[in-house]
Amino acid sequence: MTGDSGDDRVVVLSDPDALAEESAAVFARLADSAIRDHGAFRVALSGGSTPRAMYERLARSPHADEIDWPNVQVFFSDERFVPLTSDESNFHLAHEFLLSHVTIPERFVHPYATDDIPPEESAGLYEEGIRRVFQTPLDKTPEFDLILLGIGGDGHTASLFPETAALSVRDRLVTANYVPKMSSWRLTFTYPLINAANNVAFLVQGEDKAERVRQVMEGDGQLPAARVRPRGRLLWLLDRAAASRLSEEQVLTPENR
Ligand code: 6PG
Repeated sequence: MTGDSGDDRVVVLSDPDALAEESAAVFARLADSAIRDHGAFRVALSGGSTPRAMYERLARSPHADEIDWPNVQVFFSDERFVPLTSDESNFHLAHEFLLSHVTIPERFVHPYATDDIPPEESAGLYEEGIRRVFQTPLDKTPEFDLILLGIGGDGHTASLFPETAALSVRDRLVTANYVPKMSSWRLTFTYPLINAANNVAFLVQGEDKAERVRQVMEGDGQLPAARVRPRGRLLWLLDRAAASRLSEEQVLTPENR
C-alpha cells in the first residue's frame, strides 16, 4: 500500500522480508538517480538492527549488480561510541552484511573515529569529512541524497534521544551526545543536516513501534523523530505491523483514496 501524506510518502509492506526488499529497491533507485544527476550517491546509513535485512539484499543480486558502487559514498547518521569492531557498532553491522560484500572504495566509506579520541572531537572530524566530500562552503549545509533513519521505542531517531543536548544543536552538522539513560556517548547527525537532505527514509518494522510511528506521523513534537522535516522528501518504509495504528488518512491523500 502506498500513499502520499502531504509531502511524505508512506509505503506499507506485508512483512519484514518485503520491507527489506522494498528498502533495497528504493536505495538502488535513488543511487541510480543521484549518480546520473551528479555522478555520486551520498548516503547515510541508519543504525540499530532493522537495516540488516536491507543490507543483506543490497549485498546480493540483483541489487548488488545494479548499483554503481564505486560512485557511492557511505556515511552513518549516527554511531555508538564503541570500537568499530564491536557488535554494538553501526559501522560493524553495515561492514559485516553489506560493505565487505560490494566494491565501494575504502576511502568512500566513512566510519566515525571512536578510539582514543574525545567524542566532541570525533564529531568535529566527521563534520569536516562530510564537508570535504560534499565540497560545501561553510555557509551552506550538505544535502545528502538519502539519509536512512530508524525510530526507537522512545521516539528517538539517529542518536537524537528525548531530553538530550543534541536536540537543540543548530550550529553543527554532527555532534557528540551524552545519553544519561544509557550512560553512554553517541555521535549523531543534527537536525540541520538531516533536514537539508533530498531524501530521508524512516525504515521501521514491528508492532512495538506502531504507536510511535502514529505519533511521529501526527507530528508529536515531544518525540525527536517528529522533528525530522526534510527540505526534500520524507519516505516512510513500514511493514504492516509498524503501520497498524495508522488511519487511512495518514497513508492516502484525497486524490488516491
Ligand atoms: C542506533 C540507531 C537508532 C535506531 C533505532 C531503531 O544507533 O541505535 O541509530 O536510532 O535506528 O533505535 O533501532 P532498531 O532498528 O534496532 O529497532
